[in-house]
Amino acid sequence: MKLENNTILITGGTSGFGLEFASRLLKLGNTVIITGRNLQKLHETKLQLPAVHIIQSDVSKAEDIEALYDQVVTKFPDLNILINNAGEMRKLVLHDGHDLQDITREVEINLMGPIRMVQQFLPHLKKKKTAAILNVTSGIALMFFPLAPVYSASKSGLRSYTQSLRVQVKNTAIKVFELVAPGSPTPLNDKFRDVDGFNPKMLMPADKIIDAAIRGMQKDKYEIYPGLMNVFRYIIRLAPGLLLSMTSKIGAKDMYGSKIVSI
Ligand SMILES: NC(=O)c1ccc[n+]([C@@H]2O[C@H](COP(=O)([O-])OP(=O)(O)OC[C@H]3O[C@@H](n4cnc5c(N)ncnc54)[C@H](OP(=O)(O)O)[C@@H]3O)[C@@H](O)[C@H]2O)c1
Repeated sequence: MKLENNTILITGGTSGFGLEFASRLLKLGNTVIITGRNLQKLHETKLQLPAVHIIQSDVSKAEDIEALYDQVVTKFPDLNILINNAGEMRKLVLHDGHDLQDITREVEINLMGPIRMVQQFLPHLKKKKTAAILNVTSGIALMFFPLAPVYSASKSGLRSYTQSLRVQVKNTAIKVFELVAPGSPTPLNDKFRDVDGFNPKMLMPADKIIDAAIRGMQKDKYEIYPGLMNVFRYIIRLAPGLLLSMTSKIGAKDMYGSKIVSI
C-alpha cells in the first residue's frame, strides 16, 4: 500500500517503536496522530515532531477509546490507518504475591486495547477506499518468555486475534498487518537489563525494525518479521522447544531458583 497522504493514528507514540513510526510516517507525507497516557511525554514528543497531533488516551480504558474515537473522527475524518502499538511488559514471578486486578495489566493494554480499538474504529475504516490496521505483536508471541508470562500470553492472543481479523475483513479494503517485532533497546526493556541471562546483543535497533515494518506495509507483506525473527519463525516450526529453552534461562534464578525447584 502507499504510505503517503494517509491519516494515521498510532497508539503509544511517545517512545520506542511508536515514536519511530510517527517520525518516519510524517517524513513520508502523512498526517499522524499519536496517543499515550503521560501528557508531559506527549508535549515533549510534540516539541520533537512539531507536525504530530497528540491526544492523551489510555488504551486499557474503554471510555478513553470512545472519547478518542469521537475526537479523531471529528478532527481527522480522513483517518484510514490504525497502528495498535501501545504496550507494556513486566517481569512477573508467579511465586510472588500479586494483586488480582493488577496481574492482568498487560492483557488489558496489549490485547484488550487493540481489540477495543479495532471494534471502535472498524465501521469508520470500512468506509475508506484504502485502509489498514497494523497490530504490533512480538517474537514472544511465537516463542514465549516465561519471565514475562502475562505479556507473552497477551501477545500470543493478539497474534491469534489478528489472524481472525484479517479473515473477517477480507472483502473490505482494509489490509491487516502484523509486525512480529524482535527485542529492541527501547524503554520497554529497561527493567530487563539487569536480569541474569538477558543478552542486549540480541536486541535490534528500533529504527531498523520500523524500516522493515514500513517496507513490509509498502509491499503488502501482511506478516512482517524483521531481522532475526525471519530465522526464528522457521526454527519454531522445526524445533518448537528450542527457543523456549533459551528464553527460560532469562531470570532463571528468580523464577525457579534452588528454593522452589522441587515444585
Ligand atoms: N521493545 C521491544 O523489545 C519489543 C519487542 C517486540 C514487541 N514490542 C511491542 O512494541 C510495542 C511498542 O513497544 P516499545 O518497545 O516501543 O515500548 P516503549 O518505548 O515503552 O513505548 C510504549 C508506548 O506505549 C505507551 N503506552 C503504554 N501503555 C499505554 C496505555 N495503556 N495507553 C496508551 N499508551 C500506552 C507509552 O506511553 P505512556 O507510558 O505515556 O502511556 C509509550 O508511548 C509494544 O506493543 C510492545 O509490546 C516491543
